[in-house]
Amino acid sequence: MDASTEIRLAGVSYAFGDHRVLNQLDLHIPAGAIVALLGPSGCGKSTLLRLLAGLTQPADGTISFGSRLVAKAGWAMAPESRDIGMVFQDYALWPHMTVEENVAFPLKMRRVAHDERESRVRRALERVGLGEFSKRKPAGLSGGQQQRVALARAIVAEPRVLLFDEPLSNLDSELRETLCRDMALLLRQLAITAVYVTHDRREAEILADHIVHLSAGRVDAIRSVTPSSGEIA
Ligand SMILES: Nc1ncnc2c1ncn2[C@@H]1O[C@H](COP(=O)(O)OP(=O)(O)OP(=O)(O)O)[C@@H](O)[C@H]1O
Ligand SMILES: [Mg+2]
Repeated sequence: MDASTEIRLAGVSYAFGDHRVLNQLDLHIPAGAIVALLGPSGCGKSTLLRLLAGLTQPADGTISFGSRLVAKAGWAMAPESRDIGMVFQDYALWPHMTVEENVAFPLKMRRVAHDERESRVRRALERVGLGEFSKRKPAGLSGGQQQRVALARAIVAEPRVLLFDEPLSNLDSELRETLCRDMALLLRQLAITAVYVTHDRREAEILADHIVHLSAGRVDAIRSVTPSSGEIA
């Protein structure tokens, strides 16, 4: 597996027209850390994630993954060049493709050979507990299972950074907790740097090593979570 990477944002600003969303934001995420981004609705969590993904570019500041600059004022490296995996609230699976075709897609894009592709898809599906479901279409799966497929697709190419935007918020609370604990375990096994946006403090505490609070377009506070107890240090 590729080494994970540290993420550094320095003086990052972003605005929609006159509405300033991020204001000279600084944040350092150590390699392999799992960070939850918490904050009130509209505080800029998804905007920050989209900047990390390369779906939009900052008005000011820089974003680096390790020694690689991935964005600066008015410029952003394309998402497919960043070595990232993403999971969103709405799963975003391709309905006409089977589970294994969905998961294989990032490997096809990277021109990974057929045999290697098959074994990596199988491994990713087993990791998320969906080994038996490879031939199904997404419509034949529950919401939780669909989100596991999206997770398998995000990790199959062994990215250096994983980005999550409220991936569990469409699921009912019991399922949310189960999947959250499974994801926490998986993220620790993979040791990939992960940024996880959520409204749910409990989810953040289960998953993250560090909880970053955003407010008024900046980092308001960072708290470390003790892994053994799940309590905030
Ligand atoms: N396409 C857009 N055009 C104009 N303003 C936008 C657009 N998208 C988001 N905004 C505004 O930017 C701010 C930050 O939005 P963002 O989606 O990053 O918030 P968020 O913290 O993810 O909120 P939520 O928790 O509700 O998902 C909000 O005030 C929002 O209204
Ligand atoms: Mg959001």
